Amino acid sequence: MNMTLTQVALQPGGDLDGFRAAARRLIGRDTPPGQVIWTSEGDLFGAAPEGEGAPLMLPKLTGEIIPLVVCHNDPQRYGLLYTLIWRLTHGERHLMQIASDPLVHRLYIMAKSVRRDLHKMHAFVRFRQLDLPGGGERFMAWFEPEHFIVEATAQFFVDRFRGMDWAILTPKGSLHWDTRTLTIGPPGERAAAPQMDDFEQHWLDYYEATFNPARVNPTVMKREMAVKYWKNLPEAEIIPRLIHEAAPRVQAMIEREAEMSTKRNPDKAVAAMADQTPKSLDALNRLILESVPPAPFSPRAVLGEGLIGARIAFVGEQPGDQEDIEGRPFIGPAGQLLDRALEEAGIVRAETYVTNAVKNFKFKPSGKRRIHQTPTTGEIKHYRWWLERELEFVHPHLVVALGATATQALAGKAMPVMKNRGATSAFGAWPGFITIHPSSLLRQPDEAAKTAGYKAFVDDLKRAGALAA
Ligand code: URA
Repeated sequence: MNMTLTQVALQPGGDLDGFRAAARRLIGRDTPPGQVIWTSEGDLFGAAPEGEGAPLMLPKLTGEIIPLVVCHNDPQRYGLLYTLIWRLTHGERHLMQIASDPLVHRLYIMAKSVRRDLHKMHAFVRFRQLDLPGGGERFMAWFEPEHFIVEATAQFFVDRFRGMDWAILTPKGSLHWDTRTLTIGPPGERAAAPQMDDFEQHWLDYYEATFNPARVNPTVMKREMAVKYWKNLPEAEIIPRLIHEAAPRVQAMIEREAEMSTKRNPDKAVAAMADQTPKSLDALNRLILESVPPAPFSPRAVLGEGLIGARIAFVGEQPGDQEDIEGRPFIGPAGQLLDRALEEAGIVRAETYVTNAVKNFKFKPSGKRRIHQTPTTGEIKHYRWWLERELEFVHPHLVVALGATATQALAGKAMPVMKNRGATSAFGAWPGFITIHPSSLLRQPDEAAKTAGYKAFVDDLKRAGALAA
């Protein structure tokens, strides 16, 4: 029997296009799997695949499995996949449904392992900030994936950190994004990624602030966050201490809860609200629209706007003159500044939720003008019950307080913004972040201070965006 061997050399890593073209060509020539030698990882001597064969009609499930298995680190991956395709196109059309078939079983396990690796890379990449010599900043991360998944994760990171200049280095390839163009590069070196930065301290503060001692379960934690990833996770250093402190913290929380229960009860002013039990955000909004506020407030309530389930919710103070006229939050001068800063920070407003601590515009008439009045502590408290219900329906990953009124509404007490700027655990159940109100920039008389304040605001939004992601 004349058995000629065909050698196919693919690109190093997970070469889906190369594999697809080669498989089409080989099936077109009716070449059995036993006659093909697959090589990759930079083989210089194998023949490169020439041209494409006709598209193959394969079951839908195969279309999901192949791109995953191609990324697996098993050198036999292409041979196994080609055997699958051969069998599917040679009388075993329903092979994918036979989970007990050793080949199908093995491929399912391989796909699962790659899926898990993708999930881990999405979750465990940690950026560190690098100041560039000519000004500007870059975020760099080091990650060690098990499989060749770097390219497959690119879109995920571009979508989340579109406005940031970043690079992810791994021993299996690297991703570089300069806010416009993605470049897929060769493997990187761990030493090329910075080890510690200012941002890391924010991240550790945030991690510690949002670490819930009442829910800590070291076994589940190690299953989800396998110890092999810990060496590249800054928070891994503080996890043992947080676990150690969890039990006494829970006890202290129980004791504090007992003292606070009467304080948390809505006082008379909001007792009527607390009796209402809206079952949806729409129902809550109807209640807000129906309520009639006292005299210095406009009768028109301005509702929150945006996505239920948004990763990030922004809470402002109260609607301004223009918001009151149009009935939408943050559309006046402060809103336009917020929009600009969000765009620069790579946050898409339409993917967030934007609302106010106080739902009606409080003003003093002055001729034809209506002059903004800051709400009192009692007024903030009056609206607080609504805000809490609203956030429960929206359920964001992170709540960002814009300015002092929002911070007070969310924390239940006044907190100086500049002193507490950044990640906070003061917002009860919500991982929180405190920053300035954009209108404070509009009030700055000094241009240099305005520019610096704006830059710091954009930096805050970038940090908040990264934390929420
Ligand atoms: N300022 C706010 O706090 N909210 C708005 O909606 C507009 C301006």
